[in-house]
This record gives sequence, structure tokens and C-alpha cells, in this order.
Amino acid sequence: MSVADINFQQIHLRMRMSDFTPRYLADYSEANFSISTVELTFELDEYKTRIINRMQMTRKAANNQPLILDGEHLTLLSVSIDEQQLLGNDYQVSDTNLSIVIDRDEFSLEIVTEINPVENTALEGLFKSGDAYCTQCEAEGFRRISYYLDRPDIMATFTTKVIANKAQFPYLLSNGNKIAAGDLANGQHFVQWHDPFPKPCYLFALVAGDFDVLKDSYNTSSGRDVALEIFVDKGNVDKAHHAMASLKHSMKWDEDTFGLEYDLDIYMIVAVDFFNMGAMENKGLNVFNSKFVLADETSATDTDYFNVEAVIAHEYFHNWTGNRVTCRDWFQLSLKEGLTVFRDQQFSADMHSAAVTRIQNVRVLRSLQFAEDAGPMAHPIRPEKVIEMNNFYTLTVYEKGAEVIRMIHTLLGVEKFRQGLDLYFKRFDGMAVTCDDFINAMADASGVDLSQFKHWYTQAGTPLLNVSESFDANSSEYKLTLGQASGEKPALHIPVGVELISLDDQQIQSSLLQLTEQAQTWTFKGYSQKPVLALLTDFSAPVKTQFVQSDQDLQCIMTRANDEFCRWDAGQKLLTRYITQLMQQPSLSLPENLYQAFREILSADISAAFKAEQLTLPNFSELADNIVEVDPIALLDAIDSVKQSLAHELAQLFLQQYQQNVQVDYASDGTAIGKRALKNICLSYLSTLSDQQALLTTQFQHSNNMTDSLAVLNCAAKNRHENFSDMMSGFEQKWRDTTLVMDKWFAIQASVNDESIYENLTQLIAHPLFSLKNPNRARSLVGAFTTNNPRYFHCASGRGYQFLIDQLIQLNDINPQVASRLITPLIQFKSFDKHRQTMIKAKLEQFSKQVKLSKDLKEKLDAALAP
Ligand code: TRP
Ligand code: ZN
Repeated sequence: MSVADINFQQIHLRMRMSDFTPRYLADYSEANFSISTVELTFELDEYKTRIINRMQMTRKAANNQPLILDGEHLTLLSVSIDEQQLLGNDYQVSDTNLSIVIDRDEFSLEIVTEINPVENTALEGLFKSGDAYCTQCEAEGFRRISYYLDRPDIMATFTTKVIANKAQFPYLLSNGNKIAAGDLANGQHFVQWHDPFPKPCYLFALVAGDFDVLKDSYNTSSGRDVALEIFVDKGNVDKAHHAMASLKHSMKWDEDTFGLEYDLDIYMIVAVDFFNMGAMENKGLNVFNSKFVLADETSATDTDYFNVEAVIAHEYFHNWTGNRVTCRDWFQLSLKEGLTVFRDQQFSADMHSAAVTRIQNVRVLRSLQFAEDAGPMAHPIRPEKVIEMNNFYTLTVYEKGAEVIRMIHTLLGVEKFRQGLDLYFKRFDGMAVTCDDFINAMADASGVDLSQFKHWYTQAGTPLLNVSESFDANSSEYKLTLGQASGEKPALHIPVGVELISLDDQQIQSSLLQLTEQAQTWTFKGYSQKPVLALLTDFSAPVKTQFVQSDQDLQCIMTRANDEFCRWDAGQKLLTRYITQLMQQPSLSLPENLYQAFREILSADISAAFKAEQLTLPNFSELADNIVEVDPIALLDAIDSVKQSLAHELAQLFLQQYQQNVQVDYASDGTAIGKRALKNICLSYLSTLSDQQALLTTQFQHSNNMTDSLAVLNCAAKNRHENFSDMMSGFEQKWRDTTLVMDKWFAIQASVNDESIYENLTQLIAHPLFSLKNPNRARSLVGAFTTNNPRYFHCASGRGYQFLIDQLIQLNDINPQVASRLITPLIQFKSFDKHRQTMIKAKLEQFSKQVKLSKDLKEKLDAALAP
């Protein structure tokens, strides 16, 4: 038997592993080859795009191991080593790999493949979005373009030549700088790009199409001019100005805050309608879901404006945290995502109200991430076992990951955090590293011991903080005991910000406690009566608390704490208390002190934006998270009843606030946005009252912006307003050609609070503008139904669940990534009552037998149905 035969046996062993075999963090090992340069040529064609991929490779391990490249959905046309074309028996091809036995240490490898962009509905690799070609390679999409070592620790410099028809595709874009361009025969042309920064293939990008371009430039802190270009569908350039302003603000903020400057001469952003996620930070060529680029006041809401700015910032910030320093392996995803989300949150906080921004972050965490952490797919921010990597772009990795970085920021303070980040870049610029590398840099630069803190990277689940307090009037001592019921797991290092509000002299004492043991007690002296405790200032740690405070204490915090997060949170706790009580006893009437607390909020002299947050009830999923095996309908009834009681009792005050915040002319500054938010939350209370229905019609008629129009439609859908259908058909007439607005229209249709919803959903699926192939559209109907219409999604008959499953059966084939996100509420069935658990489980079991599942759905269903 020759060496080559033995190697092919190894290959066969590997190939026999199923698609569903998990990969483990603990199994990491370096690749046995490296790639220094990649030269790509794309001959674009709708059904037969040809890719020539020439790589300069070096053997790293001193043995005869074969070269095993990743590749999926590829047609292999040829393989050559050092200009010598290989024969068919020199290599092996499987569904997932190309294996070559090579006896050289340095060689050039040329691979020619053919792919079909039009049939690529998974939107990974090279695909068509409308008339344009574009790519998405993170996490493992490059293997759908060519055979490659598709892992982030393989870093190479890319040179890319794109060839296409000139009239149809005047713009041919890729990473880095344009180095050549010219015309070819038959109406074709080419452009060649070179990216001088070595990068993993997940940051590769190509775009070809006909666009309108918004151009601008940015002068960096060291005086270099950077060309900024935003490519949008023809006719949309007026909607790109907010994105451009956001980009420039982000560039300035990163220089001012972290001393980080952009490094290429050009930064391009392309907006496409077909995209699985928000956006992608490809080096020098970001590709964006158009919903995070396009905005004008007539078609985008204030929330859309906020999100455009945040996503533009997020992708821009990745240039340093992600691209210049990248991940060693995908288990380290939070290295770049947690850190970059933290950075975009800080940016948003600086651009807007810090407190309101923080409150909104916490709402997302509590309503969605906590549920994920309590469900079958719970994982640490650094997962240890992965079947389909796309399933780990999660709220845990992103949002909890950002909370973990925020805790480091809190423990170190602003200056030392900056020093830590400086050291991180000094050590690791141009490298692919781990979360441990990051923490070690933070610890080394600051002198703060973070060894215990590292447990945050290994533990799944939301920690529970036990709180107890005692007061001794004789010694004037207040004692606070904090405990973490971590059980078997090692104790975490938890920063707990507290305020003690003295009832003697109105003074407030703030401190940062560091809980490192299972339980610890702190003593505070000099109080003649028990002070009131405001806990977790600015939400200093992503934990749940077990602490029963009296209504009086909560009301005291609501009005007196310095920390705005704590003021808001105390109100939410009070509301949660009465909503859950009402669930147990539906006939209960709300206590006067809740009304009084709301009266005080409504008439307080505080910013409109913050007031709007205080008036917003905790949402269904936040509340459900606090109740064991919740009956969704009983919870929804309780929420509705609290809302209606508040509206009824305080109608005059709501109306007054509503009227005071009406603005005749449109403005987009923070004050104007805050006033709209306050006015529209008042409207949502008032819209539950039968004698206030005219407000909706009037606001709809006079609205000069999307925020106000959408607020009306949402209230009308919820309260079955008599003019709802008329308003919706007028809206459809007006916006039928504006994709992003029609997504909103579908989402409102899906949230109609009426038994007729199931028939309507069937009709909406058949609507000429509906298609499951467009992820935004799929989410706007299917996703909006499951999250915005819980009453009918959770209907006891199971019709709502069945609707979702029917769509998932199709999406499983069309786009597994989108399917896998939309299934979330079903796999979290353990949070619902026994009847619903049984029903959902049976449906999921049937579903998993009936369909040949994608890796994405299989991983989740197996986790959810595990005994
Ligand atoms: N890295 C991207 C971000 O955080 C997210 C991303 C991962 C993505 N996989 C994707 C975006 C697939 C689009 C499609 O910004
Ligand atoms: Zn990101």
C-alpha cells in the first residue's frame, strides 16, 4: 500500500462522518497548510458563473497529510498544481470536500469551479439580489464559491478580477483598491481589485450591478482622505443621506473614543433587498440589508433611523474589532461580535440619550436573550459544540457577549479599558485570536485580575442574584447580602452597582460591589432608618434578581434614584407585580398607588423620551420569562386589562400629554423624536378606549411622517378600529412600489387582533407581492405573526403553530438560515403551559419526520425534542 492509499483511507473516514456531526472547541488544531495569496477571477453568468481560484500554498505540518479543502454546491472543472492539470485519480471530491495528496511544500494550486447564482436561494456564497450579484461568505459561505481552507485563521491577501456585461453591470466591486479596469469583447468589461490586508475568506466580497451612488469623503485624524461610496438601487439615492451621515459620525467617534482610524482609501457600502441578516463587514465593501441603509421621513420610522445609524456603526467598527484582529475559530465569534455590539451601543448612547439607549438594550436582552438562555439552544457566549455555525449568530453571542464586555468596562473604568484595548491591538493586529487573548490583554494592561471573570465565557444560562437586607436601628447599620445560586458551577465575578437612598436626609450613596463568592455581605453605617436599595445601576450585570421590594420602596426608587435605569426598572417591577397578580385573580382591581405612580410619571418634568419608556408596559416575552409554564392567553388578558385600566383611570392625563406633544412640522432631532415617542405611547393607551377612536383617524389623516402613520396602524390593528381596512388599503395603494414600506404593511396585517387572522394569512401568502424567497418579506409576515400577534399564534387550537410549521416546511428548502431563526418561538415551548407544550412537541416531532431537514433546523429540533 502506498502512502497515497493510506491518505485516501483517512479521507474516506472523514467523509463518512455525517453532516450532523458536531464540532468541538476542544478539538481545535491548526490547519496543515497556509495560503499566502489568492487570485480570483469571476466570469459572471446567471446560471453558470465560472471562478478561477489560484492560491499560493505552503505546507505547515512536516508530514504527508493530504490537503483537504472545503467546498459545497460546486461543480469542479479542473485542478492544477504548479501549472500541471491533475487527472481525476489524483484527487477526491465529496459533497463537502476536495482532497488532494501533494508531496510539495510550496506550490500554487489553481481550481476552476462553476456555480449557479440564480438558484442560490439560501443567499450564502454568490447569489442574485434582484438584478445585482452579491456575496455573503460569513460564516462558511466562501466554500460555495470555490474550494478553500474555509476557516478564519487562514489569512491571505486577495486579488479579484470580475468580468461581466458592461451595460447590465456597470459597477464591478470587490475588497480593497481598484488596480485595473478595461473593456473586453462582446460587451463585457472587467475590474480588478487588490486588498493589501491579509484576511480570512469570510471577509471576501463581490458585488456587480447597476446602481445609483452617493459619494462623499472623510478626512481622517491623521489627514488622509477616504472616499465614501454608498450604492443603492436606482432612484433611491435620496434615501442614503442618513446612512452617509451615520458613517461619518462613526468614523469620527472611533477616532475620538478609541484612537482607531480607517485604513484603506475607499469605504463602500452596497444596499441589497435580499439578505439573511442585517449587514456584513467585508473589508472595504460592506453589504447591507437595504432596511439598514435607506431612510427618509416619509418611509422610515424614528426606530428605523436609529437602527440604520447603529448598524452602519456596527459594521464600520468591525474594521478594527473583527477585521484587523479576527477570530481564530468560530467558537470565538463573541470576540468580534460581543465587542462590536458593545462599541455600537456606546456610540448610540453618545449620539442619543444614554439612559434611553441603555433601557432599550436591556429590554432586548430580557425579552429575547433570557428566553434563549432558558431554552434548548442555550449556550455560553463562547459555545463549545456546534453543528451548524449559522445557528450561533445568536442573542447570546451578540447581546450577552456585549454585556460581558460592558462588565469588563465597568470593572476597569474608562481609562484602563482604553489601555486594554490599545494593548489588544498592539499584540494582535493582523492576527486571528481567541477570547482568552482579549481578556488577557485587558488584565495585563489594567492590572485587574480577570481570571475568575473568565467563567462568564463558559457558563450558559442567566445567573440568579439573591438579595437580602437587614437593618439595625441601634447600630445604624444597614447590611446587604448578595448571593449567586451557581450550584455546581464556579462562582462568577459580578459587578453590582448599587445606590442607597437615605430616607433621613435624601442623600444617595453609590457604590460598585464586586460579588465573587457564593454569598457576601456588605455593611453600610450611619442610617437612622433603613435606606432604600436601588440595585444594578445601569444594569451592571446580565442577571435576574430574587428580591422582593415593597411597593413603597419601588415608588421611592422610581422618583428618587439618581440612576435612570433603576428608576425605569422599578416602575417595570411594579407593573410586572400587578400584571402577574391579575393573571391569578382576573377580578382584582389595580391599587391606587399604581395609578398614583403613573400620574407622577405623566406629570413629571423629565425628557419625553424617558417618560415614554416609563409608560411602556413590559412586553409579553419579558413577562412570560418570569412565569413558570405560562398560559399565554391569561397573560395577554392581564396585560390588556392593566393597560385598559390605566387608560381609563388616567385618560385626561394621557390626552393632555398627547396634545402637548403633537408637532405640526416634522423635525428629526432628539427632542422631536422623544415627543413623537411620548405622543404615540399615549395614543396606544387612549386607543383602547371606545370614546377616543377619533384620535386615530385624525392622526392618520394629518401625519407627515412614517412614525406617526405606523403608530396609528398598529393601534388600529390591535383594537379592531372600524377604519382599519380603509387605512390599510390606502396605505397599500400609496406604497405598493416601496419594498421596505410594504414589509411594514405585511407586518401590520399579520398582527391584526382578530379571529379572521388565519384566513387573512392565507390570503397574504397568496398576495402578488409576497414571497418566501425574500427574507425581509418572509420575516415581515411569518415573523411578525409569531412575535406581534401572540394571542393568535398561541391560540389553544394550535392553528397558529401549524401556520408557522407550514411556512417552515417550505423555508427549510428555500433558505435554511431564515427558517432556523423563525422556528425560535416553537423550540422554546417549555416556557408555556402543559397543553401547549404537548401540542407544540407533537407538531415538531411530526415536522421532523415529514421533511428532510437542513442542518440548521435539525440541530435545533434535536435539541428541542431531546428527552
Ligand atoms: N458579521 C455580521 C455582523 O455582525 C453578521 C453576519 C453573520 C451575517 N453571518 C451573516 C450577515 C450572514 C449577513 C448574512 O454584522
Ligand atoms: Zn457584527
